[in-house]
This record gives sequence, structure tokens and C-alpha cells, in this order.
Amino acid sequence: MKHLISIHDITCEEFNQILALAQKLKRETKEGKTHHILKGKTLGMIFTKSSTRTRISFEVGMYQLGGHPMFLSANDMQLGRGESIYDTANVMSRFVDGIMIRTYAHQDVLDLAKYGSVPVINGLTDLLHPCQALADLLTVYEHKGKLRGLKLAYVGDGNNVAHSLLYACAKAGMDMSVATPKGYECNEEVVANAKDDAKETGAEIIITNDPVEAVTGADVVCTDTWVSMGREAEKAERVKVFKDYQVNSELFGKSKEDSIFIHCLPAYRGYEVTEDVIDGPRSVVFDEAENRLHAQKAVMALLMI
Ligand code: CP
Ligand code: NVA
Repeated sequence: MKHLISIHDITCEEFNQILALAQKLKRETKEGKTHHILKGKTLGMIFTKSSTRTRISFEVGMYQLGGHPMFLSANDMQLGRGESIYDTANVMSRFVDGIMIRTYAHQDVLDLAKYGSVPVINGLTDLLHPCQALADLLTVYEHKGKLRGLKLAYVGDGNNVAHSLLYACAKAGMDMSVATPKGYECNEEVVANAKDDAKETGAEIIITNDPVEAVTGADVVCTDTWVSMGREAEKAERVKVFKDYQVNSELFGKSKEDSIFIHCLPAYRGYEVTEDVIDGPRSVVFDEAENRLHAQKAVMALLMI
């Protein structure tokens, strides 16, 4: 494993290794143990989009591993004035030991990895959000004691979060059903890749436009904002199109009695999810947010030691 750009690129063993290390680091950190395994190393963190969780969890995680996190707002870098990814990758590789990037075009992350010589971690692109999916399945594992054989239902926009969950569920042997409105389906190539990966683990991937079909019998119900970063101009249209895809108590009630609700956050109550669900007893969204820290520490440890 050289980079973490897409969960599709890693093996099932590597996927399980990340989750196992994340659990160990989480447990031992809570017991007071320190893990200064990245002492003297620097992670450059490029952001061209906003962030609360990703920035904080990577900064705290790098600090807890004894290294130095460096926040780089793309607007303040020459990248924001047109310097190429090629030059940025080459220059940064002379200074830092790893690069985390949150940006729009997925190709920019691929190019950073191609032209640079240090590990690259995808902190979200328009296409994928792999760190989120790792934290999500870590959270599911903690609450359910297993992953294989469970069913996760994702309702809403066929976006970066849905795509990375498809890859993660396929690697973990978890069934996943995705319900989106017509015209907002997941990327076809991602679905085909996930179905291919699922052959190895026996996971079943179902793509539908029917939220009730997706949620029925699910162990985990997930949604995400209807208006991802970069789509703000489409908000009025999207609010209309997605109105029947809200995770409210009626829809959540179609899942198993002991199902849990996850959401990567930020959440917009009254839109993709209602308060009674996200603030209810079966919501684990703050465990999920915390697990970004533990999952990403495992990723940094495996890539940067
Ligand atoms: N879930 C997530 O990536 O949150 P941020 O946008 O706050 O980083
Ligand atoms: N799909 C959302 C996730 C935010 C963490 C977005 O891309 O804005």
C-alpha cells in the first residue's frame, strides 16, 4: 500500500489491517499509551474545500503520532494561482513525508501521487471519500461486532460518500443497497468496480431508485447532504428532487429494529435526515466522527513509517 486514494486500490487484507490497527491505536490511546511512531515526520495537508472533521482529525492524529501536521490552504498556495500539480508534487516531496489532499478533481489526487514521491492520502474529492468509509465501517464494527453479512442502506445522492462506501462494503463482505433519485445515481464505473470486488467477499450490491426497498431489513442506514461542496448552485432543484429520499422515522422504521444510523456530517436536519433520527438513540454519528481520527492514524502509520 503506497497511497490511500481509493479503497478499490487496496486488498481486502489491507482493508482489514487498517481497521484492526485503528482499533488497537484507539484502545491504547484511551489507556494513555503514546505512539510516537511518526516522530520527525511532516504531513502536508492541502485543502481546496472547507473542512471541520478532516482537518481536525488529521492534525490531532499526526500530533498523537509524534509528527507535524501542516495545514495548507490551496488559496494561499501558488497552486491557487495556477502552479501545476506536477511542480507542486515534486516540490512538496522534497519537504514533507506525506500529503493529504481535499479537492474537487479526483485526477488532481492521482497526478499528485504520480508525480510526487511521498504517500498521498485522499481527504475527499468529488468522486471519493475513502477515509470516511474506513471510519464508517470501523463504527459499524464497534456497534455490531462484525461486518460480513450485514446490510448497509445508503439513501440520497450518489456521491463521493456513497462511492467510497460501495468500495468499503465490497471489501468487507457487507451487502449494500443504494437508493437515489433518477439522474443522481452512483458513477457507473464505481458500481461496476465495487460489484467486481464484491465477488471476492460475496457481498451483494443493489442499486435502486426506491428508498423503501433499500432500507428494508438494513442493519445500518446512511445518508449524506443533498448538496455536496461545489453543487451549491443546484440547491433549490436538489431539495425538490430529493424530498422523498429523506431519512425520517418512517423510512428508518423499515430497517431492522436494532439498526444504527450513520452520517459523515455535516448534516442538514430537515433535509436529508430528520432530528428524531439523527439525534435519536440509534444514531452513532459522533462515534463515527471520532473514528475518523483512529482510522486515519492507522492509515498514516501504515503509509508513513
Ligand atoms: N465528514 C467530513 O469529511 O467532514 P468535514 O467536511 O468537516 O471534513
Ligand atoms: N458529500 C459531501 C461530503 C462532505 C464531508 C461533500 O462532498 O460535500
